[in-house]
Amino acid sequence: MPSRRHFLRTTLAASAALAAPRWAAHPVTSPDVPPTVLAQDEAFWQTVQQAFSVDRSLIHLNNGGVNPAPLMVQHAEQAHQQASHRTPFYAYEGTIRPQREVVRQGLADTFGCHADEIALTRNTSEGMAICQLGFNLKRGDEVLTTEQDYPRMLNIWAQRAAREGIVIRKVPVPVPLTNDTELVDALEAAITPRTRLLMCCHLIDLTGQILPVPAITAMAHRHGVPVLVDGAQTFGQFSFTQPDLGCDFFATSLHKWLMGPQGTGMLFVRRDHLHDLWPLMPCDAEEIDDIRKFEDVGTQPSAGLLALGEALAFHHSLGVERKAARLRYLRDYWLDALLPHDRIRLLTHRPTACALATIQVDDMDPVALRNFLWDQHRIRVRPIKQDPVEGIRVSPGVYTTRAELDRFVEVMTEVLHHGLPSS
Ligand SMILES: Cc1ncc(COP(=O)(O)O)c(C=O)c1O
Repeated sequence: MPSRRHFLRTTLAASAALAAPRWAAHPVTSPDVPPTVLAQDEAFWQTVQQAFSVDRSLIHLNNGGVNPAPLMVQHAEQAHQQASHRTPFYAYEGTIRPQREVVRQGLADTFGCHADEIALTRNTSEGMAICQLGFNLKRGDEVLTTEQDYPRMLNIWAQRAAREGIVIRKVPVPVPLTNDTELVDALEAAITPRTRLLMCCHLIDLTGQILPVPAITAMAHRHGVPVLVDGAQTFGQFSFTQPDLGCDFFATSLHKWLMGPQGTGMLFVRRDHLHDLWPLMPCDAEEIDDIRKFEDVGTQPSAGLLALGEALAFHHSLGVERKAARLRYLRDYWLDALLPHDRIRLLTHRPTACALATIQVDDMDPVALRNFLWDQHRIRVRPIKQDPVEGIRVSPGVYTTRAELDRFVEVMTEVLHHGLPSS
């Protein structure tokens, strides 16, 4: 049995070897070092950086949108793609279908649930739509959510409200959210005898705020209300499992923090909900208790899903605790440099956040600032203008270098002193 250290060393080295010029090779530091200490070890992270093929002629600080996949994942995806064209006649039944099961098991092990509770999807949006549109509700039934849930999911509820007369109740989320109990209490106060489902984000994309999902589910379950979690931003970013959250449904995108191929996602449906949740495309009667009923959507490419095997290997060899610690370290690195400036206000409560943070810059339009950073400096951040949040969201990835953050801080400091150039 190879040791964990050996596994880490060889997996990272293999990925780096695909990517790195010879001069970049660097021995991996001992994985026994605590994650918060390793987070500051640039030699270790240089090796990780070499596993990626990101274009370093620009600075990608919107990993909350999409993360790049390491080269080993890209190569696997390409190989699966080629195989599907070489032998299309038997690829699906003979090869792809059984290999999807290996990926399903790997995701289930990582999330701490059974494989027959995991559906392979294209993204969070698809998983959420399956739950939101497939959940039995009748006129007058209520769904409880927050004002800061993702717009697409709120649109789905708005459509069900318009077509079927269900009622959507949204509670505000304080910005920043410094007291978790305040939100749990506000949600509890909004529960009525007609509440049938509670939907919330695990991490709000506007601010990077991580919500107290375990406390929310415990509270909702006390009222007999199941909980649907939008986990687009969390799976693979920091450590948690389904039993930690206690949720009934959880949808995520694997092209974000797991760093899988684009267009890959996963949906968890707790076993006891499977029978009653309708798939988007109607299935055979005998499939009704099978999680795969949600995947039966006609012919589709599988190369990305199969390459999730490599994404999981990379994720586990790097280690989720090490990833989270480095992401927090990088977040603090740029925040600590900018926050002393009196025009900047942090809209994220740091103790309950990880990679993503949003700052408001006084008297500066976020879109104009994003455009300036991109047009003049090829630095990519996400502007946010959704009441009550107005600012730029910055989200480095595990491959981001400190030099890239130094450059971002330097440009921002200049802007803070001199303002944006008038166009
Ligand atoms: C909270 C949240 N939910 C859902 C989504 C949608 O993800 P996808 O486009 O991968 O379906 C995002 C994307 O950024 C998000 O941040």
